[in-house]
Amino acid sequence: MQEEILSIKNQAMAQIMSSKDAAELEQIRIDYFGRSGKLTNLIKKIKEAPEDQRKQIGLTINEVKKSIEELISNQKNSFKESVREWFDPTVPGIKPAIGHVHLVTQTIEEISRIFGRIGFERARYPEVEWDWFAFEALNMPKGHPARDEWETFFVDAPENSRFGKMVLTPHTSNGQVREMLKVKTPPIRMINIAKCYRRQLDISHIPMFHQFEGLVIDKGISIVNLKGTLDYFAKSFFGAERKTRLRPYHFQFTEPSFEIDVSCGVCGGKGCKVCKGGWLELGGAGMVHPNVLKAGNIDSKKYSGFAFGWGVERVLMMKDGINIPDLRMIYSTDLRFLTQF
Ligand code: FA5
Repeated sequence: MQEEILSIKNQAMAQIMSSKDAAELEQIRIDYFGRSGKLTNLIKKIKEAPEDQRKQIGLTINEVKKSIEELISNQKNSFKESVREWFDPTVPGIKPAIGHVHLVTQTIEEISRIFGRIGFERARYPEVEWDWFAFEALNMPKGHPARDEWETFFVDAPENSRFGKMVLTPHTSNGQVREMLKVKTPPIRMINIAKCYRRQLDISHIPMFHQFEGLVIDKGISIVNLKGTLDYFAKSFFGAERKTRLRPYHFQFTEPSFEIDVSCGVCGGKGCKVCKGGWLELGGAGMVHPNVLKAGNIDSKKYSGFAFGWGVERVLMMKDGINIPDLRMIYSTDLRFLTQF
């Protein structure tokens, strides 16, 4: 029986030494120490041995058991060591996903840069505004029908005796008179980019959007300066081959007033499915009305100016290569959309 014990010990040692992983080791442990394992069976057989040898056999089996267990444990540790050895600290880790600047913010930054290059200074005025700055100072007295176009949100707050009701600013033109009152003496070259709010929601209208409003006031400012500025913007933002044109229009706060069109980037101005006869509508503009200059304490006999106000989301949709069929998508939280820009 002693021989049998030694032979089991040698077998076990050979198997343990050549095992490759913890699972294999576990199987070896079961093969020897399990319910019908090789060593367990030997223990059961002790009682068949001659009585005077039983004690010695028992001691030998115990020793063998101990050394096999020790060997299994050492081998297990060596696997852990080797896992640690394989760790390569130079392999780049898994980067957590990081966001990026939103498409609208990118566009606002681009517009600011374009106008900054020709001396326009960025301004920001309140989003929660008095009726007076949003309408009255812009030549739209209380009850004037032109106000309807702005589909305004009114704030449930006490009226101010001078400035009237509180509104969510429906356009960035509220900044015109605020800028005049701040600067006091022209020249003024302002670009006011801000959020606007209107009760509108469809494929091309959203209740919260952004406008960028240009205002230039100085001595001798004419429509020529307006046209030159708009051409410069169209070429810088849309591409060198793009042109602008002015169409007569009406705004209470500019006289004369215009709608500005930009030549279509798809057909180059010839006319296609995307545009209306070669042109795309950009937004409104005009020469600042004398009543508005008066509200801003500026002498309309000495100074003249132009203003324009366009939608950030709309100009970005008109950019080549940006194919957004529905304005509302811009503010979706769908990462499949957002990560494209
Ligand atoms: C105005 O708001 C005038 N204040 C613009 C102006 C300024 C004219 C200075 C003359 C001088 P209008 O309501 O057309 O005009 O809006 C201007 C632009 O804002 C539109 O051309 C469009 O691009 C954008 N816009 C208007 N409403 C929405 C809306 N609900 N969602 C997205 N963009 C809008």
